Formats: sequence, C-alpha cells, structure tokens
Amino acid sequence: MIVIAGSPRKGRYSDRIASHFAELTGSSLIFARDLNVGPCRACNYCKGKGDGECIQKDDMGKVINSIMNEDGIALVSPVYWWQTTGQIKLVIDRLYSIREGALRGKRLVVIMNGEAEASDAEYRILREQFSEMASYLGMEYSFLGVGTPEGNEDALEAALKAAGNLALTVK
Ligand SMILES: Cc1cc2nc3c(=O)[nH]c(=O)nc-3n(C[C@H](O)[C@H](O)[C@H](O)COP(=O)(O)O)c2cc1C
Repeated sequence: MIVIAGSPRKGRYSDRIASHFAELTGSSLIFARDLNVGPCRACNYCKGKGDGECIQKDDMGKVINSIMNEDGIALVSPVYWWQTTGQIKLVIDRLYSIREGALRGKRLVVIMNGEAEASDAEYRILREQFSEMASYLGMEYSFLGVGTPEGNEDALEAALKAAGNLALTVK
C-alpha cells in the first residue's frame, strides 16, 4: 500500500498516525506537502491523446506509478472545514487521469483526524463521501475517523491504537 499524509504540519497528528499505519502495514509513506502537484485542469488530455497520462509533468506521475505497483492507497488527512486538506484534494483530483477500471480491486483506506470528537458530523460526511468514490472505482474501502484535539495526548494515543487496529485488518 502507499500511504499519503495530508497535513501541512510536519510531525504532528496526521504525520504520526500515517507513520504508525505505514509501519504496521509495511507501506511506503509520502507527504503530500512535499509534492509538486498542480490542480487538475479538466483538459481531458488524459482521456484522449494522453491515453491515461496527464499533460502536467509534475510529481503526480510518480505517485500514480507507485499506486499502480501497490495493492492500495491510504489517505491520512486532518479534517479541514468538513473535508480533506487542499494538499490531499489536489492528489485526489489528479487520479482522474488513471484509465477506467485501473484501480478496481485495490484498497482505499481513509483516515481523517479532526479537533471534533469521532461522533461529529464531519466523519460521517467524509465516510460516506469516500464510500461513494470507492464504490465508483470498484475499490475495497475502509474508513477511520478520530478526534485529536490540540495537546490531547490521550486522544492521540487512542487514535494511534485505532489506526493500528485498522492496519491489522487491511494488511
Ligand atoms: C483550516 C482548518 C480547518 C479545520 N476544520 C476542522 C473541521 O471542520 N473539523 C474538525 O474537527 N477539525 C478541524 N480543524 C482542526 C484539525 O483537523 C485538527 O487540528 C487536526 O488534528 C490537525 O491535524 P495535524 O496535527 O496533522 O495537522 C481544522 C483546522 C484548520 C487549520
């Protein structure tokens, strides 16, 4: 699996959850903030002349190559305004260039961490939203929502434990 961590903040909650999950699943880990990924231009070059390749020659090419060589993708992102961070959204939009059916049978893991506790609406909304995307792409889907309020080490420990349990089920 390839784990893509979406926080702009180095070494904070999402990074720690992502590292833990990557270690337990034996996955490679990349940080979206370190990537040079432009926004999808909806030019549809990839659907025509590009035949599955994007016209933009930036870091997304190597991300897609890694995804193709792995059995799945795990996105680990802070909740920003009931959504993922912009860094993760850029990556998601650029998956558009992948040929139809190419992600079928691979796994999509989404781990979202916010300030709000796990029963709050953002996690339900995100769980459902990514469920639709996974089903459209024919991917096996797992979701985890965790609340990691700033400075709350107990909540972080609980989140790491939950991510560890999820890792055991998707390995
Ligand atoms: C722009 C912005 C928007 C946020 N929106 C939400 C939100 O809608 N719901 C929530 O629970 N937390 C929200 N948060 C809090 C972060 O999700 C939370 O602090 C998270 O743990 C940060 O992850 P990090 O430590 O990996 O950067 C927001 C934070 C920022 C900076």
